[in-house]
Amino acid sequence: MIIDVVTLFPEMFDGPLGYSIVKRAIEKDIVEVNRVNFRQFGKGKHQRVDDTPYGGGAGMLLKPEPLFDAVDSINEREPETKKRIILMDPAGKPFNQAMAEEFSGEEHLVFLCGHYEGYDERIRSMVTDEVSLGDYVLTGGELAAMVMIDATVRLLPEVLGNADSAQTDSHSSGLLEHPHYTRPVEYRGMKVPDVLMNGNHGLIAEWRHKESLKRTFERRPDMLASYDLSDQDKKLIAEWKTEEME
Ligand code: ADE
Repeated sequence: MIIDVVTLFPEMFDGPLGYSIVKRAIEKDIVEVNRVNFRQFGKGKHQRVDDTPYGGGAGMLLKPEPLFDAVDSINEREPETKKRIILMDPAGKPFNQAMAEEFSGEEHLVFLCGHYEGYDERIRSMVTDEVSLGDYVLTGGELAAMVMIDATVRLLPEVLGNADSAQTDSHSSGLLEHPHYTRPVEYRGMKVPDVLMNGNHGLIAEWRHKESLKRTFERRPDMLASYDLSDQDKKLIAEWKTEEME
């Protein structure tokens, strides 16, 4: 996969790209990450990338030309790849695990990171996706792009050591993850559940599913609306609802 990040602050990405799983994915050539500073396409002696809004109002807007030129330069470097051009925007579609999975199947992702009050509207004409990290406003799109790159890259084939570990993540199954325990068996009066130590894999799988369901019911009941509940799941949820009312 190729990722290009179009940003005025390329150094901000040193941390997230330079450690742990993403670093290893880059070293193993599973992903190539390029940073394109669109200041180089700024206008005039001062390489301006922003300007005041027509019609008046507070704040500055990103001008269209530097961002279009930056994307043109990526198209010139990689004319053959099929690209998703993703605009970081608090008014975009909220990012989630399903989107990370979709992105991880793409050939080339281009993240456009804005700053200032916003963008000239015409910039939207070249984007395929407008995506928000969540319902809050950041100082720029960089932190949002870092999160999306991290969540996407770890899903690429061969990136995670244990091929199974992405499938059991919270959110990828549609439920939150069940609790985990390691040694010691007892710590500060808290014991590892017996079922995890008896070696019965059927019972362990059943316990884990029930705990996932319970955790999702308690913390994120909204997620259950899009989860395919079995009859047994429905029975458990009905019991927990009755317990809640008591
Ligand atoms: N830029 C500023 N805030 C943002 C957000 N929540 N998501 C994506 N880009 C942003």
